Amino acid sequence: MSNSASVQVPTPTPSFDLTGKRVVVVGGKKAIGLGVAQAAHAMGAAVTVASRRNTSVEEHPELAAFEQVVLDISDETAVQAAFEAIGPFDHLIVTAGPALGAWGSFMDPDMRGVRSYLEAKFLGTWACARYAAPHLQAGGSMTFLTGGTGARAKLGLAAVTSTFAAVELLSQSLAIELAPIRVNTIRPGFIDTNFWEVLPPADVEEIRAKVRAKFPARRLGTAGDVGHAAVFLMTNPYVTGTVLEVSGGELLVDWIF
Ligand SMILES: NC(=O)c1ccc[n+]([C@@H]2O[C@H](COP(=O)([O-])OP(=O)(O)OC[C@H]3O[C@@H](n4cnc5c(N)ncnc54)[C@H](OP(=O)(O)O)[C@@H]3O)[C@@H](O)[C@H]2O)c1
Repeated sequence: MSNSASVQVPTPTPSFDLTGKRVVVVGGKKAIGLGVAQAAHAMGAAVTVASRRNTSVEEHPELAAFEQVVLDISDETAVQAAFEAIGPFDHLIVTAGPALGAWGSFMDPDMRGVRSYLEAKFLGTWACARYAAPHLQAGGSMTFLTGGTGARAKLGLAAVTSTFAAVELLSQSLAIELAPIRVNTIRPGFIDTNFWEVLPPADVEEIRAKVRAKFPARRLGTAGDVGHAAVFLMTNPYVTGTVLEVSGGELLVDWIF
């Protein structure tokens, strides 16, 4: 029997309220992470957002309510220093990940693509969890982010599929390892953010049309949809080690890409 089995955890009353809680969103200055930061803030949390650059509040007033931290999750030393500077907090959410297409193909002449993708997405998530863990307060949680590709392999996406699967299994492992800290993963479907901007606009419009037509939810996903799910995972005291799909039903229909 592990030591953690004897830990006595009081039974909390479920609530979506985050008043008095401190939330750190790595990747929270735009897109899905910003949706999570805004949802947590709306429920009363003090929110810190982290990414590789400071974003001007004059240009992005939506960030005015948040503390900003500069952090490259591929840099372990920087991650450790950032969480030491942040100090005690309640909930960690890691949405940061490499840009669309920055993952390499299996038969590339070398493995630089997959190495840098794994370094950022998998080891970056690992590093955030590792160096956040000592600072998480009782009742705290961690939430990671993957995508539907983690559950359904597709030609050309071996690096993404296997990395997302690894992140999801990391969250299950840490749900045991860090208990009673709760650790979960959100697996989004198509979320209409600037993530897709690297594609030609006509291609993005085509994808949007397919999502509206084929996904059972019959609409585009929003960062707010993921934010809503993240608040649920932060506040529900009995959910741990799970993968929560927020996908409009993407995995129930054929691949649209
Ligand atoms: N949007 C979708 O439909 C969708 C669906 C499934 C899965 N996903 C996954 O979700 C992730 C986030 O996507 P998104 O839609 O939120 O858009 P995004 O534009 O990819 O947002 C990524 C965020 O992470 C930060 N970031 C990137 N690399 C970082 C690093 N090394 N260290 C620290 N921060 C870093 C970026 O800010 P800085 O540039 O300032 O660092 C940005 O705030 C993606 O990696 C993708 O795999 C997205």
